[in-house]
Amino acid sequence: MNHQQEVQVLGMARIPSAGLRKGNIIDIESTSRSIDNCLNELERMTGREILSTVTGFSSISIGAVNNRAVIAVGNPDSVVAAEDKERVLSSATNISLTPDKAIVQVIERQYIIDGYDGVKDPVGMVGNRLEAEALVIYAAAAAMQNLQRSAQRINLSIDETVYNQLLNAESVLLPAEKEMGVALIDMGAGTTEISIFSQGTIRSTAVLPVGGDYINKDLAIVLRTSIEEGTRIKEQFGLASPDLASDEVMIEIHNIQGNETKQVPQKLVAEIISARVLEMMEMIYTELQQSCDLDKLAGGIVFTGGGAQLQGIVAVMEDYFNVPVRLGRPDNIRGLSSEFCQPQNSVALGGLICGLRHMDPESIQKPSGVSGIVDRINYWLKDLFS
Ligand SMILES: Nc1ncnc2c1ncn2[C@@H]1O[C@H](COP(=O)(O)OP(=O)(O)OP(=O)(O)O)[C@@H](O)[C@H]1O
Ligand SMILES: [Mg+2]
Repeated sequence: MNHQQEVQVLGMARIPSAGLRKGNIIDIESTSRSIDNCLNELERMTGREILSTVTGFSSISIGAVNNRAVIAVGNPDSVVAAEDKERVLSSATNISLTPDKAIVQVIERQYIIDGYDGVKDPVGMVGNRLEAEALVIYAAAAAMQNLQRSAQRINLSIDETVYNQLLNAESVLLPAEKEMGVALIDMGAGTTEISIFSQGTIRSTAVLPVGGDYINKDLAIVLRTSIEEGTRIKEQFGLASPDLASDEVMIEIHNIQGNETKQVPQKLVAEIISARVLEMMEMIYTELQQSCDLDKLAGGIVFTGGGAQLQGIVAVMEDYFNVPVRLGRPDNIRGLSSEFCQPQNSVALGGLICGLRHMDPESIQKPSGVSGIVDRINYWLKDLFS
């Protein structure tokens, strides 16, 4: 799919997930029930049967290694053949992993022919020495198998499993940002993913076991209320820094039983939130410093996920890192209604872009033998981890 294409999103469902902890499946039965509920809601909403899914995958066990391999071009006339490309890429993918790990995805970063780099597809080019550079993304094998088993349980076939941050990048990053260098940070409920893109592709990635839900728990404990009430307070009245709060504003908070209320200054709420926000910023900063030179990231930081919706957090991040930070809205799809254009939908919408790209254009134009042209592409999407 090219990004200029117009897509009609028929529906989007988001349901609370069960069976996951810090982004990892800990209960297959509950996870598959959550997926099923989400699909049912989507089918009811759109009146269509779900035909295929692109599934986003992430886990705190995610790791990534850049690897390189070199081969001599086999053909005597020195023209690179498809077999040469396959051979060099498979050697570049050959990293030693412990048996509990499995490869999630291999990203072909570039090919180098006789020392000339930046080649995207070497087939048909002339040269003797062919090198490949790839980023190999791996994760705990069990985490991937648990996802597959959760889907199998409800007879859901997965067309493709893609690392969440690659889907996220599809829907929020501009080609120029990916070229110049950009950090893509997604703060979800239980995890925060940090990836660096440069020269058009992903360079490194890591997943931290912290996210927006940390703040909910802090609010619940300090304000002596339930986690649900803590979440509501954060989402409705939360501020990332006490500097943004005024002394006069008071917030009504329910107690744990939900039968009594008390008034709490917004400034106090902001102070509780801010302590955790700063702690998460420090963790993100440490991770970023290990993977890139922040001063050289011309594209700055693009921030997505529900955690990025906290009022004032973009400014706090900008102050802390001293680089430009923008909220990543999934606006790489033309014609997308603004109700879907939220930073926490960027991964699911990236799945839509990815799914459409791999779809056979013929099958889109003529569904199930119906003649005539369908002028808009209808697709159904869901985010397994919402
Ligand atoms: N308006 C808001 N203000 C502050 N936080 C918000 C807001 N809306 C959502 N959040 C927070 O965003 C988080 C959920 O984000 P998101 O939907 O991206 O997570 P997820 O993808 O389900 O989780 P994960 O990526 O960890 O698996 C929750 O902590 C939620 O409280
Ligand atoms: Mg997420």
